[in-house]
Parts: sequence; C-alpha cells; structure tokens
Amino acid sequence: MRRGTRGARPARRRRAAARRTAGPAALMRAAEGARRQAYAPYSRFPVGAAILLRDGRIVTGCNVENASYGLAVCAERNAVFKAVSQGDRDFVAIAVTAREGRGAPPCGSCRQVLHEFAPGVVVYWRNARGRIVRSPLHDLLPLPFDLAMLRGRR
Ligand code: THU
Repeated sequence: MRRGTRGARPARRRRAAARRTAGPAALMRAAEGARRQAYAPYSRFPVGAAILLRDGRIVTGCNVENASYGLAVCAERNAVFKAVSQGDRDFVAIAVTAREGRGAPPCGSCRQVLHEFAPGVVVYWRNARGRIVRSPLHDLLPLPFDLAMLRGRR
C-alpha cells in the first residue's frame, strides 16, 4: 500500500479541524448568542448552550419554557437533541451561560443526558466573578446511570 493513502486523510482532516476549533471563549460567545433566543417568560432565567463537535462545528441551544411549567426544556438538552437529530454525536466540549456575564453548570438532568453521548465532554461555564471555568463531565456526574448499569455490568 502506498504510504499516505490510508489513514493519512483522516489525520489531516483532524489537524485541520483542530485548527478551526473554537476555544473556550469563542464557544462561550456562541452560547451567549444562543441565550438571546431563550424563551423564558416564566422563570426569567434565559440560558444558552453551545456544543463543540469533534470536527469543529458548533451546535447551540437555549431553554424553551411553557405555560405548563414542567414542560420546560433546558438549553443544554436542546443543544444535545438538536445535534443528535442532525446526526452529530461526537461532542468535545459544551459551554453554558445564564445571566449577564455569569453562568451555571448544567443541571443534573442535563449532565445525565450529556453522559449518554459524551462521558468525557468538557463543560465550561462562568463562575461568580465572570471567569470561564471548566470541568470534565465525569467530575460533575461521578456515578452516572448508563447502559453498563442497565445491563448489570457495573
Ligand atoms: N435551565 C437550563 O436551561 N439549564 C440548566 O442547566 C438549568 C436550568 C433553565 C430551565 C428553566 O427554563 C430555567 O433555566 C429556570 O430553571
């Protein structure tokens, strides 16, 4: 086999994707943009999320509430479902923003939903001082419920 015919292209594509990939600040800006679309008239707590895919693309989401309060969907889950429904499951990172210049890490339900597709995903949010902080999802969700548990393997 000629050198470089197999395997070379994916590596090149990966390097090209890495060059294009948004850093935490750019990902946070995408989340902040998505937050402007939030529909949160009941809580008045608009949230935005932006997922970075392995190939460098970004999928965003915002929270969408309802007069039947319990039907509200979080920004993070909206972004996850949007990505999965368009065939994208390779999540590298997610940025979350809530309130001006402030953030919040994803709620427990969103951590569980993120774990389904990306147990190693890096989560970014802003602390009370407005600084972007990060944590791998497995630190935020140390004992997830997953397929292994469902099958009795863990
Ligand atoms: N919310 C999110 O969008 N993400 C979270 O991680 C926490 C909560 C939304 C749900 C609801 O619309 C509003 O914030 C108040 O709870």
